[in-house]
Order: sequence, then structure tokens, then C-alpha cells
Amino acid sequence: MSKVASHSPASLWKNGEWPNFADQVPHKSSDVIIVGAGIAGLTSAYLMAMEGLRVTVLEASQPGEGETGNTSAHLSSALDDRFTELEELFGEEGSFLAAESHRWAIDIIESICLRENIDCGFERVDGYLFSTEEAENEELRKEFEAAKRAGFQDLEMLPAPPLRSQKQGAAIRFPNQAQFHPLKYLKGLSAAVQKYGGNILLNHEVIDIHGHAAPYTLTTRQGTTHTAAHVVVATNSPFNNRFVMHTKQAAYRTYILTFAIEAGSVNKALYWDMKDPYHYVRLYQPNEHQTLLIVGGEDHKTGQSEDPDQSFEKLETWTRKHFPEAGDIVTRWSGQVLEPVDCLAFIGRNPGDEQLYIVTGDSGHGLTHGTIAGMLLNDLVHKRNNPWEKLYDPGRKAKSFSSLKEFLKENINVALQYRDYFSPADLSRPGEVPIGEGAIVRHGLQKLAVYRDHDNELHTLSAVCPHLGGIVRWNKVEKTWDCPCHGSRFSCKGEVINGPAISNLNKAELH
Ligand code: FES
Repeated sequence: MSKVASHSPASLWKNGEWPNFADQVPHKSSDVIIVGAGIAGLTSAYLMAMEGLRVTVLEASQPGEGETGNTSAHLSSALDDRFTELEELFGEEGSFLAAESHRWAIDIIESICLRENIDCGFERVDGYLFSTEEAENEELRKEFEAAKRAGFQDLEMLPAPPLRSQKQGAAIRFPNQAQFHPLKYLKGLSAAVQKYGGNILLNHEVIDIHGHAAPYTLTTRQGTTHTAAHVVVATNSPFNNRFVMHTKQAAYRTYILTFAIEAGSVNKALYWDMKDPYHYVRLYQPNEHQTLLIVGGEDHKTGQSEDPDQSFEKLETWTRKHFPEAGDIVTRWSGQVLEPVDCLAFIGRNPGDEQLYIVTGDSGHGLTHGTIAGMLLNDLVHKRNNPWEKLYDPGRKAKSFSSLKEFLKENINVALQYRDYFSPADLSRPGEVPIGEGAIVRHGLQKLAVYRDHDNELHTLSAVCPHLGGIVRWNKVEKTWDCPCHGSRFSCKGEVINGPAISNLNKAELH
């Protein structure tokens, strides 16, 4: 067993205590209901409650339980899809506005930390985008020029990033990037939402939103109903929009490892290479005795890897080459990234709705995109102009040949996944499924998702994804069923973990 495989997946951030939310008195009706208590939902709630709106946040489980808790927590305005690409897609002005919105997002996180006294380790650091081979240097030089046009003031082109291994080529230094502990930040934000009169109701899983105009009525799996003039769906993948938005973005798994290192052996900064998918690196000090190097990357489309363990293994190999200071692996986890076909998130009115808003397409910048959502949606709710409204409009059309090409590529890929109806199963009989594992088994005309738990009990489910009928696949690292079409994920026993599906895999009988 490799060193990597011996660690069960667990995010570094999800280990703290949460305040008690139980004694909240819900508003009879709200000005705004926000679905989801990740960074997008809670930033929106905070800014709206501060302006005096009656805000209710409905959260299916705990704040940050979704992708906010799975990030590596880089706060960067150096956008990973690159300013050369953004200029091609949105012109120089669009590229400038995109960079500006992420700079503002970092600034506003900093000012919220100061105003609300949130102790989440927020700190400014430099970011380095570096090449690892000669052929990337020309691309890097073009990115340097495009980033300057996008409004970066103090950029520097360097012969190399400040790393010991000297395995890297030239680098751009982006000043004024930042890092923090994302769930400590969410805790502070939750307390501040409540201070300004907002409600945060946990274990309220919204399963339906009725109406296309105000007032909207929301129903939860727990049987409660709630009404509001405005609704924000901040659930990473918008469950209310069953089809259109999922043709404009694709779900990817991304992998993260943390390594013990000696304090001071790597300069504190953010680091990104230029590969596709790229690698991302930062430092974190959980206490005065421990320093960790957090390294992420090796992404693949959700449900489309034969062996996700290989992603962790490749990540370890890459890390040891570029950061020889890395010691033992401390923990590992993975997260879900929604990649829009044209690089920028979708934040604004759900197409066809006047006062129902969505936030999705985090594109590897979930923390800043989530914060931008708070600022932008607060302006839309208040009917104020916002300079980023058009740029992030969920109804925008693909503007260039390259985004149209990406749109077609992703949708052809989805269509091809439906071949699984006719492909052979993993195993021919449920009895062959090993303990602690899952496999797809054919049963007559049906495909079944079969998991055998550690008490030797078989859990037999339909393999058909309840979103739009894809056939799920077993993820042996995370012990989940992942849909290769639009990224819905389910626990080994079939409970939904990631949307767009909102219901569990159906139970199936063997007869
Ligand atoms: Fe859309 Fe499964 S996520 S079909």
C-alpha cells in the first residue's frame, strides 16, 4: 500500500466546533431566503442583513459542509484561466473587470475580518505563477502583459520563483494575494449574520422552489415551508435549474495532499504551475509546532477516472520533485470544482426568473467567486447597478469560437457517458462484490449499484442517476457513487452528496 493510500479522505478544515444555531426564531416571512451556508450564501446573508433586510439561510447540514470546506483556501485575483484567455473571451475590459472583482473580493474578506473580529488567520501573501519547461516561458511572458492590462500594478517577472529545488523556470510575482482558514472565517461570518438579525436554520434541506415571481415558496425535506420576495440558490450546483446551467459547466474532482515540513523551509506564498490541470500550493500553520504544505491538482472529470488513487500518487510525485522539503503526508481529501465553458462563474438572475438568483461555476476560485456573489447579489436585490452584472450573468451566451468549442466538447462528452447503458457491468453477480467496495452489476435489463458494507450486508440500488438518468460509477477512494454526466455524487448507501441531483439513488430489489 502506498503512503498516500493509507490516509482516508478528510479535509483539514472540517474539525472545529460550531456555535449553537438551535435557538433561532425563524422569520414568519423573509425579504431574502438563501439556500446554502457556504461562503457564497453566508457572504450574501451578511451583506444583506447588514443593510437591514430580513434574511433566512436554509442549510441542509452544517455551514461549510459542502465545497467551502474542501478548498485549499487560496484567495487569488491571479485567475487560473489566465488573462490571455479572458481577453480573448471577454475583451480587455472584461478581463479587467474580472480581475477587479476578485481584488475586491479579497479586500472585502479582509475588511469583514477586521470589522467582525474574525480570527481566521487571514494574511496577505505573494502568488507565483511559474513555468516548469522552456516551452511555457513565452506563454508566461504573454500572461505578464495581459495581467498588466487587467490592472495589476506591481507585477514582477522573475527568472524563477523563490523555491529551493530550482526545478522551475521563470515566474510572475502577483502581489496582494491572500490565504486564510475557510471554516474559521465562516464561523465568524455566521455569528455576524445572526448579530444583524439574520436566521441560519440548519437541517433544512430545500427540495423545491415554487413560482417564477415573488413571493416564492420553498419546501424542505423536513416538511417546513418558507416564503420570501427574493431567493438566492448558493448550493454550488444549482438544483433548481435542472438542465440549462449544467450544459454550460462541467464537474471536476480535484485532489489535495498535506505534507509536514520544517517551519521556514519554504517561503510563505501561493504557488501555481502552468500545467492543465495545474498544481496549486500554499502553507498552513495549525499551531506553533506544526507547519504544513498543502498541495492540490491532478483534476479529472467527476466519475471519469478508473483509479482516483493514481491522482493522489501523481500529486505526491509532483510535490516531491518541486518541494523536496515535503515530509510525511498528514492528510488528504478531494473537492468538486465546476468549470464553466467560458471560465467565469455564473452569478445573477436564474434565466427566466426576476428575483431568483443563482451562484455556480466556481472555477477553482470558489472563495473569491462566492464573495463576489455576496456583493453582486446584494446590489441586484437592492436594484442597484453593479459593474460586474453583465460579466457574470448566468444567461450569457458563448461569445467566442473557443467557448463554443468548449461547450460542444463538454456536451459531447456528457452524451457519450450514456453509452454506459449498453456497456458491460463491473461484475456479473452481487455476490462477487468485496467487503467495503461497490460495483455496477447487471440484473436483467437493469444496471444496479451494489455496495457491500463491513458487516457483509449488501446495499442494492438502481445505478440510474435521478438527475437526468446517467449511470453512476464507483469511486473506490471516496467510497461514493459518482455520476459522469453532470457531477452528482451519492454516498455508498445512495444518499445524495453533490447536486444537481436532489434525491437519493432508488433502492432496488434483487429477485
Ligand atoms: Fe446529471 Fe447524473 S448528474 S445525469
